[in-house]
Amino acid sequence: MTVDVRVLSREDLPTAWAVLTRAFGEAVHPEDVEVELALADPARFYAAYADDRMVATAGSFAFDMAVPGAVLPVAGVTWVSVLPTYRRRGLLGGLMQRQLADLHAGGTAVAALWASESAIYGRYGYGPASWTVSVTLQRGAPFRTPVPPGRLELVEPDSPALPEIYAQVAARTPGFPARDATWWTYRLHDPAHDRGSASPLQAVLTDGGYALYAVDPVWTDSLPAGVVRVREVIAADAGATARLWRHLLDLDLTGEVQARILATDDPLLMWVLADPRRARARVRDNLWVRLVDLPQALGSRRYACPVDVVIEVSDGPAPWNTGRWRLSGDRAGAQCLPTTDPADLVVRPDDLGAAYLGGTPLRARPVEERTRGALDLASTAFGPLGPAPWCPQVF
Ligand SMILES: CC(C)(COP(=O)(O)OP(=O)(O)OC[C@H]1O[C@@H](n2cnc3c(N)ncnc32)[C@H](O)[C@@H]1OP(=O)(O)O)[C@@H](O)C(=O)NCCC(=O)NCCS
Repeated sequence: MTVDVRVLSREDLPTAWAVLTRAFGEAVHPEDVEVELALADPARFYAAYADDRMVATAGSFAFDMAVPGAVLPVAGVTWVSVLPTYRRRGLLGGLMQRQLADLHAGGTAVAALWASESAIYGRYGYGPASWTVSVTLQRGAPFRTPVPPGRLELVEPDSPALPEIYAQVAARTPGFPARDATWWTYRLHDPAHDRGSASPLQAVLTDGGYALYAVDPVWTDSLPAGVVRVREVIAADAGATARLWRHLLDLDLTGEVQARILATDDPLLMWVLADPRRARARVRDNLWVRLVDLPQALGSRRYACPVDVVIEVSDGPAPWNTGRWRLSGDRAGAQCLPTTDPADLVVRPDDLGAAYLGGTPLRARPVEERTRGALDLASTAFGPLGPAPWCPQVF
């Protein structure tokens, strides 16, 4: 089998989309294609061809994303697929390698992705960098304290108020991709084939927050048991969180509220619910991060406490990152420079990716500590400066 990897043209994108959907065992829905393809800059997308037939794809979106103390241009890796008849022959490995080299050559410091399965990307230097919680709540779940007063208004999902609130929260929450108009179109896309029996997407707005949701009108034995399917709750403060969730939990004719992607530090779970265990919260990995350019990535974020540490890294897929690096920084800024000094810590590329957003403690990873105390200090420094990192949307 001869395989070659090519950069796509716009004309190739529909074929690549068909390969991707086939690899995921899904159908191509014509109403999705335009929305999905509008996000893709073909110059950032690759396909592997076997005997001139497209059999695998990988690409990345370019967007700004908050990291601790800064907002960086990030590569959002996506459209990763290999046709079932060509899997486990190294095609993914080849695409990842090509993409990484090109991202580095283009000056990208950080790549992030959603993993379809959590066993795939560690070998390419990606680590689980943020975590998310899914909840299922019974209608009427009580709160600890009365809901703070504030406006609550049903609006159209494309109301201009939503992007304003999102941008405000995105700027200070590591892991949030910035959304332009094309990304909002994607986020609000609501095709009938995805809805099942649920209502079209609805939006509720409050001071400092909004929720996007649909209601699936279920009746059991003539009793209303509708399911509220939450797409996104974005709130700038705990008051907005409480108002939005009270709305979602008190909708008539419903029995249950389901939300898949919440922050691990969501006030709903930390304080608002009187009996948070009843949310049946389940934690799973959210964004996976890879440092494409290690010194640029580590020097671009800020650190929760003063840190001055020499890190030794061996990075097979990205040999330009291999070496010893002195990282010095604090809440005001940081720099990461090559050094010949002995290492305090020996760290794998996926450990640094995991710790980068402040959501996975460095001390929870298999880091080798050569200077006593260096791991605890570095782990605290890499920790969160503000809100826990999370990404509210799959890309
Ligand atoms: C996941 C997928 C892209 C892997 O492609 P592939 O070409 O078979 O991967 P490779 O042959 O390059 O495998 C490289 C390594 O990853 C491992 N690997 C690949 N897919 C894996 C998976 N789903 N789970 C665990 N390990 C996996 C391989 O076993 C191999 O390990 P090795 O180097 O130790 O031998 C492909 O199976 C696919 O398209 N799956 C369905 C869609 C999907 O999940 N895409 C990912 C979206 S985030």
